[in-house]
Amino acid sequence: MDLQMLTDALKTLEQGAMNQLKQVQNEAELEQWRVAYLGKKSAVSTLSRQVGSLGDSERPLAGERINKTRQALQEALATAKGTLEESLLLRRLETQRVDITLPGRRHPRGAIHPISRIIHEIEEVFLGMGYTIAEGPEVELDAFNFEKLNIPKDHPARDMQDTFYLTDNLLMRTHTSPMQVRTMEKMAGASPVKVIVPGRVYRRDEDDATHSHAFHQIEGLAVDKGIRMSDLKGTLEEFAVAVFGPQQAVRLRPSFFPFTEPSAEVDLRCIACGGSGCRMCKETGWIEILGAGMVHPHVLDGVGYDSRIFSGFAFGMGVERIALLKYGIEDIRMLYQNDLRLLEQFERIF
Ligand code: PHE
Repeated sequence: MDLQMLTDALKTLEQGAMNQLKQVQNEAELEQWRVAYLGKKSAVSTLSRQVGSLGDSERPLAGERINKTRQALQEALATAKGTLEESLLLRRLETQRVDITLPGRRHPRGAIHPISRIIHEIEEVFLGMGYTIAEGPEVELDAFNFEKLNIPKDHPARDMQDTFYLTDNLLMRTHTSPMQVRTMEKMAGASPVKVIVPGRVYRRDEDDATHSHAFHQIEGLAVDKGIRMSDLKGTLEEFAVAVFGPQQAVRLRPSFFPFTEPSAEVDLRCIACGGSGCRMCKETGWIEILGAGMVHPHVLDGVGYDSRIFSGFAFGMGVERIALLKYGIEDIRMLYQNDLRLLEQFERIF
């Protein structure tokens, strides 16, 4: 081995390395190349170990050439590495391209259920008339659901409101009227009492197109000095116009409830025919929507409002019935089936 042989070997080596480097496709191959040409067991390292066997005059030059070769290889490696990274990046940008002009994926949005909508809407109307909103328990004492509403244990009015009993004295409330009693007891004689009570109620009814064993009511109660039946009618007219439009009118027919006297069934002018008579109103021009009346003196006296001083009115409406009428839905069961074809027709507000 002499300087010339070493120089030739380095040259061949460098050329071979450079050719090889051109073939490199990825980082793994580049690393293999680095180990092969610049690693401890590489040809350059082997050659540098042989420098010692050269003569004194040749040794510095030999070292210099070896370093030069090594340097050339290192620079080539760095350049190759840069090029490789760049092309990998380009490929990634190409394959992971994002089209920012595509419309985004929409998340399905919920809507307020028609029953809740009606409740909110009616609440707004009565809030505007100075009422507050209260809610009561669905599992109710017999005393509140019946007895304090002037319906004793053996009263025939109980037949129409049979329900689910938990014990002899505890039942699923059949109407929101027990909240009349609870509200007045809580107010303890203070006036005026002006409250509306939305909530779920239960009856021992067979489910069909117009009945459900669980449904919703909104109770209304106003008690003060000098409240008259005309106040009831005016209030209900205000409600009918707000919910069903300016042409609306209500009609009171004599009726009976044990806890009101006098009592009335309240009809809405038929929203389908405007009063001329059609199938929906059975040719009468009117549709029954709620029960109402003047709070019975027994009820008032029973909760500490002296019926010689105070008077009041109460009403109870079926929310489902109003929803069916307002939205033209034909079967009450559709309100409970969560069929998106129905629910999707309501404005999405979340
Ligand atoms: N609670 C009665 C019912 O469910 C309705 C009603 C409420 C009647 C208030 C008069 C006064 O049928």
